[in-house]
Amino acid sequence: MIIQPRVRGFICLTSHPEGTAEHVKQQIDYVKSKGEIQNGPKKVLVIGASTGFGLASRITAAFGSGAATIGVFFEKPAAPGKPGTAGWYNSAAFEKEAQAAGLYAKSINGDAFSDEVKQQAIDLIKQDLGQVDLVVYSLASPRRTHPKTGVAHASVLKPIGQPFTNKTVDFHAGVVSDISIQPVESQEEIDNTIAVMGGEDWKFWIEALKSAGVLAEGVKTVAYSYIGPELTYPIYRNGTIGKAKDHLEGTVPVLNSLLQDIGGVSYVSVNKALVTQSSSAIPVVPLYISLLYKVMKEKGIHEGTIEQMQRLFAERLYKEGEIPVDEKGRIRVDDLEMRDDVQAEVAKLWEQATTENLEEISDIAGYRSEFFHLFGFNFDQIDYEADTNEVVEIPSIK
Ligand code: NAI
Ligand code: NA
Repeated sequence: MIIQPRVRGFICLTSHPEGTAEHVKQQIDYVKSKGEIQNGPKKVLVIGASTGFGLASRITAAFGSGAATIGVFFEKPAAPGKPGTAGWYNSAAFEKEAQAAGLYAKSINGDAFSDEVKQQAIDLIKQDLGQVDLVVYSLASPRRTHPKTGVAHASVLKPIGQPFTNKTVDFHAGVVSDISIQPVESQEEIDNTIAVMGGEDWKFWIEALKSAGVLAEGVKTVAYSYIGPELTYPIYRNGTIGKAKDHLEGTVPVLNSLLQDIGGVSYVSVNKALVTQSSSAIPVVPLYISLLYKVMKEKGIHEGTIEQMQRLFAERLYKEGEIPVDEKGRIRVDDLEMRDDVQAEVAKLWEQATTENLEEISDIAGYRSEFFHLFGFNFDQIDYEADTNEVVEIPSIK
């Protein structure tokens, strides 16, 4: 079929198999160009491995350190008249590139929050790898069915205490407007968001993997968090999602004591704000990102997901000697985003931003382009008028 972008709100309903493969290939090429990561991971489980930071982590482990990888994700193959999801195509492309490079790569498509998928991952590790030495936890989801209670929790993106009014952008139309977001109406909304995006499921994974004996001596596990600037605090760090991130970060000491007897250690890495399927759904944040990209590109310090994850592995997680962390024990690869000079310039531009000057003072064009890249569109190498086969198999999934 001929596949072109079909956008509804902040999501794109279609994905291009060859375009997503090109996107994966560019990320692999970047990691290879940075050379081998010394003493990097060798057997890696990535939970949330099909898009965004999780995919970039998988690519970095495989092509930066020669790691065997098992990826867990929740994606859809093509159905009649409908292309598969970007994460499906990304994973197919990744496995093919890994195989061609002689690297083990298998995937599990299912609900990572469930006990069944955890068991499938354990069985696969036992069968093929024995143990893993790195577990990356990179899920982003709007809902979670709790495996013990069966309760379906839905997360919300809301401020807490009072309404929040600020600028936002419709990044397709390029229109800047004010948005007011009402605060949560109950503690339950906060609790539900923590249940979905907090650390409980990460803990369930590590407990299950440990009791099955599939975590290697000295295992590392890492999950991803975000802080960002004060202007997004009401909707992000001090909002419902921020409470979930507090919980995720608070899970680190719990996991550290759980892993102590096998010399294991857990980390949260605070990453940079980037265009992903998840972040484009958060109000206010896309305008911040488009101003941030402008400033960081001008200063020559811009990074995308793959640059972030390559740096996380090479200069943090597998750096020789002590891993640099902040006063709360967190790894920071948002260090360049949070630099005073960067934040001061973004804050100044934030005050000025209007629909009229948006193209000029922000990198809204870059935002849009990256958004389409997530779905395999907007690559010069691809002919989007041409017929393409939308039915693509992930080699390890029959
Ligand atoms: P993403 O939407 O690109 O990736 C989410 C992944 O989770 C996909 O692989 C998806 O298939 C998988 N997934 C979702 N629900 C699932 C389920 N029930 N079972 C199995 N797999 C499931 O998201 P992104 O942005 O890469 O986020 C990953 C983490 O990074 C999140 O914790 C997010 O908060 C964090 N982060 C994101 C930042 C950003 O600006 N995008 C900045 C800093 C941290
Ligand atoms: Na991810």
